[in-house]
Amino acid sequence: MTALVTATGLKRSYEIKQGWFRAPAQLQAVGGVSFALDAGKTLAVVGESGCGKSTLARLVTLIEKPSAGTLVLDRLDAVNPPASAAQTLRRTVQIVFQNPYGSLNPRKRVGAILEEPLIINTTLSKRERRVQALDMMTRVGLRPEQYGRYPHMFSGGQRQRIAIARALMLRPKLLVADEPVSALDMSVQAQVLNLLVDLQRELGLAYLFISHDLGVVRHIADDVMIMYLGIAMEHGPKERIFAQALHPYTRALLDATPGLGRKRQRMVPKGELPSPLDPPNGCVFSTRCPHVTDLCRAQRPPLRPLDGRLVACHYAERFLDTQAA
Ligand SMILES: Nc1ncnc2c1ncn2[C@@H]1O[C@H](COP(=O)(O)OP(=O)(O)OP(=O)(O)O)[C@@H](O)[C@H]1O
Ligand SMILES: [Mg+2]
Repeated sequence: MTALVTATGLKRSYEIKQGWFRAPAQLQAVGGVSFALDAGKTLAVVGESGCGKSTLARLVTLIEKPSAGTLVLDRLDAVNPPASAAQTLRRTVQIVFQNPYGSLNPRKRVGAILEEPLIINTTLSKRERRVQALDMMTRVGLRPEQYGRYPHMFSGGQRQRIAIARALMLRPKLLVADEPVSALDMSVQAQVLNLLVDLQRELGLAYLFISHDLGVVRHIADDVMIMYLGIAMEHGPKERIFAQALHPYTRALLDATPGLGRKRQRMVPKGELPSPLDPPNGCVFSTRCPHVTDLCRAQRPPLRPLDGRLVACHYAERFLDTQAA
């Protein structure tokens, strides 16, 4: 089976102006990310603010083009698609953002918000569009009588349900969810996560699920990719990584997550995230790693297979089969 999504060496840089007399600098937001995602599965992308998660989301949803690398979506070249494939690709992948307040047009009723993608992309009649909108509302746990209401009449969780419904109107195969529950209260977070799990099962959706919180992705992910300064530190099946994280950064993130860390040793990632304009030589995590050596400062560790996942640490063997750190 070929994967639904195959990304190889995806990079995205931005030019940053440095004032009148200095040449612009290159900020590498995504520095060469590769992954494969099968239909119906979830890849969670996790990391601190600024590590490149949303940039990766924009690349995968075709909002921006990568500076380098390839992206194949449902067997189509998504970086330079043939004209005939462009519309198909836009229907294949949809996105849900963190903030349902900002992403829904306040002047439109829910029905109109949900039917808009159908007006633009299909030849369905008004009646058919209404039937589909009402059907999708039921699927996401909204009631038919809410069809004529405006977004401000809904709670945050309900608004995120509307945003999810809108993203699914064209029956995409891949949903990119960029921090979809981060703005919601804890109890509501769980409801929306459960909804996403149910929809995945019913519709066979693949998710690229972005979060800064390992606790959130634990329930929803099949695979997890931990990112730091635009590159993957550890990437593999959720079971492997949660059972025994091999990268010091993953271990620090786990320890900082309530309910997941080793209780004796709370090691919140220490120190400042380096500027992405001036990333450390060698290992990008070397300036904050408790186990740093001269080798780490000098040489960037490759992402390599070890114990059923990929890990980018010279000393990843250190944590194999031991809970001691
Ligand atoms: N359009 C842009 N122009 C310049 N720099 C950008 C642009 N978009 C993102 N960046 C920079 O790229 C890096 C990655 O940003 P990105 O938004 O992808 O991170 P993130 O992981 O989504 O962070 P957060 O958790 O805060 O949402 C940051 O240093 C950011 O400042
Ligand atoms: Mg972001």
